[in-house]
Amino acid sequence: MKRRSLLGGAAGLAVTAGVGPGSLLWAPFARSKAKSSGHDAYFAKLNEMLKRDGPGHPVMLLDTARINHNIDRITASVGDGKQYRVVVKSLPSVPLLQHVTQRAKTKALMVFHQPFLNATAEAFPEADVLMGKPMPVTAARTFYDKLGNTKFDPASQVQWLIDSHDRLLQYQGLARTLGLKMQLNFEIDVGLRRGGLAEPEALSAALAVVAADPEHLSVSGLMGYEPHLTGQQADLNHPEVRKVLGIYHGFIERLQAADLNPEQLTLNGAGSHTLKIYEKDDTMNDLSAGSGVVMPTDFDTYHLIDHRPALFIATPILKRYTHNPFMAEPPANMQQVYYIYGGYWKAKMASPVEVGDTIYQSTNQSPIATSAEVNLEVDDYMFLRPTQSEFVMLQFGDLLAVSDGEISARWPVFHQTG
Ligand SMILES: Cc1ncc(COP(=O)(O)O)c(C=O)c1O
Repeated sequence: MKRRSLLGGAAGLAVTAGVGPGSLLWAPFARSKAKSSGHDAYFAKLNEMLKRDGPGHPVMLLDTARINHNIDRITASVGDGKQYRVVVKSLPSVPLLQHVTQRAKTKALMVFHQPFLNATAEAFPEADVLMGKPMPVTAARTFYDKLGNTKFDPASQVQWLIDSHDRLLQYQGLARTLGLKMQLNFEIDVGLRRGGLAEPEALSAALAVVAADPEHLSVSGLMGYEPHLTGQQADLNHPEVRKVLGIYHGFIERLQAADLNPEQLTLNGAGSHTLKIYEKDDTMNDLSAGSGVVMPTDFDTYHLIDHRPALFIATPILKRYTHNPFMAEPPANMQQVYYIYGGYWKAKMASPVEVGDTIYQSTNQSPIATSAEVNLEVDDYMFLRPTQSEFVMLQFGDLLAVSDGEISARWPVFHQTG
């Protein structure tokens, strides 16, 4: 039977390709064979916990022991001579960020959204914040307008990201209008082609503008992000890595030519996928990572093989068909159909593992086809791994931190607006 023909009554529901485990680019996490119940010991324990203590609707779980393991991997790679900068958008919860910064012993954060910047300034009055993308100058103005009574001093604690000469002039205009001083960090294009200064000459021109207006502007460093190295299994000697570092050095020389000391500046780069490459390199002194702490499936990549999945959507089963009502002769992994509470998240099924192709997706109740081996009941939970963290983590209300099989804390997430 053709897939489409079995969807007769499901008009208006989005149909997607299979989200089964086979679609991973890199599959370092061998799944242990599920027991006949449908869950291995790890997920069976979470299932019991949620049936006992859960709220009865989809929730986002964080495994704190696994998070700690992942943080320790990152700090080991960053080493002593460099600073670990925690990517706020990928871990969008104040208590989660407090947990990560305390364990990693860092105050450096990377922020990508004005409402998160204001929330960060309030919750982390000691932080050093580097913006991860250039903000419209009106967003910078909104930040200053909304900055409440906090110890946080933007003149020394925010590094605004500047990607072009025009934006530099806009920020200079804002600093003059507001009568304050701004630190500027320059986004440089090290090969990603996502904007930023393309040539070292452009940096020299920008540095001249800053040098001529010390009352309002100062230079805080460079940011050169290089996720295009992901998937190359690259080490430090890989030609693409050499290219990135060569470009970075070209910009550093312009800092030196302008009498700036690179050692006193923030020379940022990397992300979770690539941070490990630089263990023995000191071109950059400030390395970012966020997602590698919680490990959504998009981060099952080469340099993160030692990290452990720590983030799961858990959702109750509402209904069970012990046969497949959509197919006369279903394949082995589609013998029965469960309906889960919600669905259509950016996520892949983690447990049970014996799941078939997607029948259709619904944000209300999604059908999940499984093999006949799975023996979960209504009110048991299924577990999915988000493909990414930054958006998905905001969809479930408080995050449930889990330690030793218990819900140890409820961690609120950031508000998208405000
Ligand atoms: C500028 C910049 N740095 C670093 C990161 C890395 O974040 P993560 O470690 O969550 O991939 C990102 C992600 O988008 C980014 O845009």
